Amino acid sequence: MDGKTVVLTGANTGIGKQTTLELAKRGARVVMACRDLARGEAAREELLAATDGRGELEVRELDLASLASVRAFADKAHADLSRIDVLINNAGIFPQKASKTIDGFESQFGVNYLGPFLLTNLLLEKLKASAPSRIVHLTSMLHTKGTLDFDSFRGEKPYKASVAYNQSKLANIVFSNELARRLEGTGVTSNSVHPGAISTDITREMPWIARKLIGLMFKDVAHGVKGPLLVATDPSLATASGRYWKETTEMAPSDEALDPAVGKRLWDESVRMCGLA
Ligand SMILES: NC(=O)c1ccc[n+]([C@@H]2O[C@H](COP(=O)([O-])OP(=O)(O)OC[C@H]3O[C@@H](n4cnc5c(N)ncnc54)[C@H](OP(=O)(O)O)[C@@H]3O)[C@@H](O)[C@H]2O)c1
Repeated sequence: MDGKTVVLTGANTGIGKQTTLELAKRGARVVMACRDLARGEAAREELLAATDGRGELEVRELDLASLASVRAFADKAHADLSRIDVLINNAGIFPQKASKTIDGFESQFGVNYLGPFLLTNLLLEKLKASAPSRIVHLTSMLHTKGTLDFDSFRGEKPYKASVAYNQSKLANIVFSNELARRLEGTGVTSNSVHPGAISTDITREMPWIARKLIGLMFKDVAHGVKGPLLVATDPSLATASGRYWKETTEMAPSDEALDPAVGKRLWDESVRMCGLA
């Protein structure tokens, strides 16, 4: 990854932080896109001590719950990043109570999917100019239990955390696959990956006992980076696009994730919701 620039969202903890470390150790410059600069800088300091002087780490502010913040991040990236070789849409949330983003979207839909949709689109020109380049979307095998309810994106339906999470993770793959179709011939790839059941802060709002059990049952974060790293860096996957990995094994996602009509509908609706030209 020497000479390569990676933009990675949610880099201050969990899978994103560990992936940042592994990429830096391989020589990459990693732009750590974090919603809280202080937490981001604390993570950077910690990571720098572990990279043996390899790579380069920089923290930038990005709140995926705010489309204005996404636009500001992308504007700065266009202005001062000479290239983006890899974009990793890693940040994600699993809130137990209903909430909305600044722009009025159901929070999991907004943070896990819509913010990354806008970010990716706004960075596309830079990714194309840096081709061959890659876009990696962190999803979940729980997408198989989800469906896209186009009448729920603004929180119109009664909230159930798992339903909202599964929908947002399905949206990640639907988007990844639609993007892959639209990027054919550009040298930019788009793939999605389920990192495994990994013990991280994503359970932060769960009851103490549930967190304890998950801590015992789920795998260590070092395991959770294997899939994302493979899809982001493996030379044999340089042209692979529109594909899905469960950890390091390629799989078929759900039928809904593969349906081009669903992909087009979500894309068109997302363009409207983000106010993209
Ligand atoms: N852990 C698992 O078992 C598992 C399984 C399947 C898929 N995944 C997926 O893997 C990805 C990483 O999850 P994780 O387990 O590493 O979770 P995590 O430890 O909770 O990390 C999530 C990261 O996202 C950031 N984030 C949250 N809201 C944000 C916002 N509005 N704007 C920008 N960044 C925001 C968090 O920042 P703060 O620290 O500031 O909140 C944090 O850095 C997620 O997409 C998740 O859905 C995880």
